[in-house]
Amino acid sequence: MTATPALPASDPSRPTATVPGSKVLYGADYNPEQWDPSIWREDVALMRQAGVNTVSLGIWSWALLEPAPGQFCFDWFDEVLGLLVEAGIDVDLATPTAAPPSWFYRAHPEARLVEADGTYRNGGSRGICCPHSPAYAAAAARITDAVAAHVAGNPHVTMWHVHNEYGAPGGDCHCETSQAAFRDWLKHRYGCLDELNRAWGTAFWGQLYGDWSEVTTPRHSGTALNPTCELDFARFTSDSLLARFTAERDIIRKHFPRTPVTTNLMATNCPANDYWRWAQDMDVVSTDYYLEADSPESQIWLAMESDLTRSLAGNRPWILMEHAVSAVSWQPHNRAKMPGEERRNALAHIARGADGVLAFQWRQSRRGAEKFHSAMVPHAGTDTRVFREVCALGGELTGLDELRGTEVRARVALLWDWNSFWAQDLAWRPSVLMRHREQMRRVYEWLWDRGTTVDFVHPEADLGRYDVVLAPASYLISDAAAANVAAFVHRGGRFAALPFFAVVDDEECVHEGGAPGPLRDVLGLTVEEVRPIPEGCEVTLAPTPAAGVPQDAGAVTATVWSEHLRLAGARGVWNAVDGPTPGPAITVHDYGRGTAVYVSVVLQPRALATVLDPLLDLPIDKPATLDGGRPRNLEAVTRHATDGSGRAYTVLLNHDAVAHRLALVGNDLLTGRELHATEPTTLAPGDVAVVCHETTGDH
Ligand code: GAL
Repeated sequence: MTATPALPASDPSRPTATVPGSKVLYGADYNPEQWDPSIWREDVALMRQAGVNTVSLGIWSWALLEPAPGQFCFDWFDEVLGLLVEAGIDVDLATPTAAPPSWFYRAHPEARLVEADGTYRNGGSRGICCPHSPAYAAAAARITDAVAAHVAGNPHVTMWHVHNEYGAPGGDCHCETSQAAFRDWLKHRYGCLDELNRAWGTAFWGQLYGDWSEVTTPRHSGTALNPTCELDFARFTSDSLLARFTAERDIIRKHFPRTPVTTNLMATNCPANDYWRWAQDMDVVSTDYYLEADSPESQIWLAMESDLTRSLAGNRPWILMEHAVSAVSWQPHNRAKMPGEERRNALAHIARGADGVLAFQWRQSRRGAEKFHSAMVPHAGTDTRVFREVCALGGELTGLDELRGTEVRARVALLWDWNSFWAQDLAWRPSVLMRHREQMRRVYEWLWDRGTTVDFVHPEADLGRYDVVLAPASYLISDAAAANVAAFVHRGGRFAALPFFAVVDDEECVHEGGAPGPLRDVLGLTVEEVRPIPEGCEVTLAPTPAAGVPQDAGAVTATVWSEHLRLAGARGVWNAVDGPTPGPAITVHDYGRGTAVYVSVVLQPRALATVLDPLLDLPIDKPATLDGGRPRNLEAVTRHATDGSGRAYTVLLNHDAVAHRLALVGNDLLTGRELHATEPTTLAPGDVAVVCHETTGDH
């Protein structure tokens, strides 16, 4: 089998770069081209007032920097750069290739991106052209080189921001050039057409290919497409966009060999790219995150985003490159943040490893598509709640510089693999309700509620530092991943898999003998049949004596999914007592020195707690309050110094509308107060504390 390596080695010639500077980065996308030059001076004065130390410049400036092909205009840009430098504000300089100029579309209509149904994506908005277009590649290289050469040697350009959110809007192109590029990619992957026919299973529906020219991208067709073709196309698109990033990065490196290069990811929100591969090619990982403001769990999805980004960064610090200080403008209903909410959001990212918090954008636009999107300087000016909070946060962040470079140490990991997600969400699965995102979220929410900090990890990566590994949505498991998980359990790890687990291999071919394929021995069972539960229906589960919960713990209910399990060594700990599949629904199996739990039904977060807490012995990272218990909406994460000093920083966030009293020891960096165990500390509703304290040992 010819598999694309999951985790390419990073370039050993590059030093491990890190977040530039010595301060927590604070700032925004700065789009001065929207404004009269007289505003620019006011902008930098206000940036100083707000404590801004870094701005991302030039993201949308291609048409202004190169008004006609090959003709460059840097006058306005030099003036802005000069003002920023004079004010001591560092520049995260962008390559402007996410918005090709109108002249480019006119000269190269063939470079337009073609959707699966044959429609062209025209200019007039923003977004990449065809990522395989030679004309786009040449034009992007030319402007990248021109900008980098123009500022070469400028020490105030402390970071490079390539393009903008590769994959948003999607970069999957179906033009003739892309068809040829896809065929080349497939030739490299499979070597010969016979091998492609085998891997794609083209005997099914007589899809056999006799000549490479017959192989196409998964374009709009009669009904369901070949799933392996679709999966390969997703991999190919991620690789193609990554190639565009590395092409620009390498041009920059010629002029700025030691300056970190990043591109803003969209960690949990980007279906287009396999970010495990991308992160290997970035000097610093950065992401954009926009709050799901209407969700009552918004703080949980924010935390999940941060944890994934930190994990992509290999547990090194990362940067929140964009977020909104208040409302966005593209959700159906754009809720403005409440007083104090932005501070809590920003510090929640810092808690989970961010060394910088930047916004979109500095000054709120008066014209254009995003004029109703909040910004650090709102339409109503500086005498506003938003600007006052922006300034206050800037002041607070200057007191947190010592957190830079410290690390979060999770003992629990969730397997996360874009290949599996692409495959799981293809057409014609047993239930459309079984999407990977909801499965991940239910598990993450349960762990967030109880205060267990998690990393995300690629299924083939080293699991050695974790006590517990969970697979909430691992529909696709490669042989290497299965061996990795088996070794983890055998060595004594605690593992739990959730339903629709290990069904296919990396060719989207169902594992021989059925699920959970190569992990049948580890879980001690075979899935004989999946039996989705109709929408609106529930199944009741009751514990067996082996469940480790009091027998009067009561029943839990499951939805969406059930499986008929044939046990071969595993013991049932919760049984379905009604529904389509009475019998064992949740099982435990001892394997080597470890334990493997299988959950064959869909459970809500509270039910996951009832069922899995007694089985997995998970660590808890949030303190109990003096009033007893660990309130759900009290969040606590600790960052540890890496210098052996034993110093640690626990960020406590009260998302509740009531105060919580805690026995804390240390120094709150936000208030400067010394905290003693004998004097209760009250964390007011919505408030945050960053407590510096000493630890003994690793934790
Ligand atoms: C991001 C994008 C920004 C801005 C922002 C608004 O996706 O990178 O340029 O459009 O959304 O929320």
